[in-house]
Amino acid sequence: MRTTVGIIGGGPAGLLLARLLHRVGIDCVVLEARTREYVEHRQRAGMLEQGTVDALRACGAAARLEAEGLVHQGIELRFAGERHHIDFPVLTGGRTVTIYAQTEIVKDLVALQLADGPPLLFEAQALAVEKPESEQPVVRFLHEGREQTLTCDWVAGCDGFHGISRDAFPAATSRTYAHDYPYSWLGVLADVAPSCDELIYARGENGFALHSMRSPSVSRLYLQVPNGTEPDDWPDDRIWDELAARFAIDADWTLGRGPITAKSVTPMRSHVHEPMRHGRLLLAGDAAHIVPPTGAKGLNLAVSDVRVLGRAFAELHRTGSEQLLDSYSELCLDRVWQATRFSYDMTRMLHAQPNGDAFESRMQLARLHRITASRHAAAELAANYTGLPLPL
Ligand code: APR
Ligand code: PHB
Repeated sequence: MRTTVGIIGGGPAGLLLARLLHRVGIDCVVLEARTREYVEHRQRAGMLEQGTVDALRACGAAARLEAEGLVHQGIELRFAGERHHIDFPVLTGGRTVTIYAQTEIVKDLVALQLADGPPLLFEAQALAVEKPESEQPVVRFLHEGREQTLTCDWVAGCDGFHGISRDAFPAATSRTYAHDYPYSWLGVLADVAPSCDELIYARGENGFALHSMRSPSVSRLYLQVPNGTEPDDWPDDRIWDELAARFAIDADWTLGRGPITAKSVTPMRSHVHEPMRHGRLLLAGDAAHIVPPTGAKGLNLAVSDVRVLGRAFAELHRTGSEQLLDSYSELCLDRVWQATRFSYDMTRMLHAQPNGDAFESRMQLARLHRITASRHAAAELAANYTGLPLPL
């Protein structure tokens, strides 16, 4: 097989890139290791910056998002028994965010791709990217029980944190910056109407909790738990009791309970791989960087990388210029590091330190008080949360 752009990974990054390339007439092939069923049902985040919504709309993938997405005007911070509203439009000059699950974006993009797009192969597991320095890099992959090759002009590594694309970067010219946090998130989906109109980020004395949602009848909730926790360590009643304790405020408010339909534990880490390009291999999304979910930046960063990459390939196709491809890594990394910083700060401000450090705990409260007392500090949070300017 051969193609112009070989895309490894059919998550949001790979699927959106395929869509952007298809729209400007560049052929590509997407190799996805898992089944369609698996990628369409994997539980992930669901908070979209305006730029992400705009990118999906611009490539004709936002019909259902526009009908079903929930537009939010802000978030609520809870700490020390009080609630504080952070009003995004007021603080940012009109910006909002939209709740729409990543799994739904994947379903929408897969449907478009299978209807009129270039090939998308499921259960096609890339094994290695070979000769990325050459003009014809090759992806070796397993499909239908045999090893095959995809010869490309360019390869886009969109294969997430556990992918193989990063392995093709030489150790001598690449560097990874990593930070593991000393806690994880237990996430649950529950068939109960959300007990809030907007997301609640709560700093409880026993740890962090987040109240998010998927629809008017489905809630998505998270609890900070120790690393190494198994979902079965937490029977449903224990989860609801702990959530209620962490969201408790002095005013009258109750957390609605309902049947829990999914439960999983996610470790928290920050990871940035530099550079994002080696020869004719370019990384995008989680393959290049991951952030802890506290700032809701993972999916949004993947989309902003792909927007740059789509533009760079379009420019090459139209004018023959590789200028944008040459600056791809530099263009993306500034925004990547800003989102890494924001996610780190949000995480550190809201999670209980496992060692119970009293000084750190007071620093968290001081940071939170500053945000609620100063319009300037709140505006800084709102600007980062709703999304810093896009690179292009
Ligand atoms: N060959 C083919 N496909 C692969 C391989 C491989 N060797 N390894 C991984 N994949 C696939 C995975 O099965 C997955 O579908 O690559 C895809 C990567 O998708 P994501 O992990 O969703 O990453 P990305 O598209 O960059 O989206 C970023 O995902 O983790 C969240 O918070 C993150 O929301 C953000 C989003
Ligand atoms: C989610 O809805 O899953 C979600 C929302 C905001 C976050 C993290 C996760 O910060």
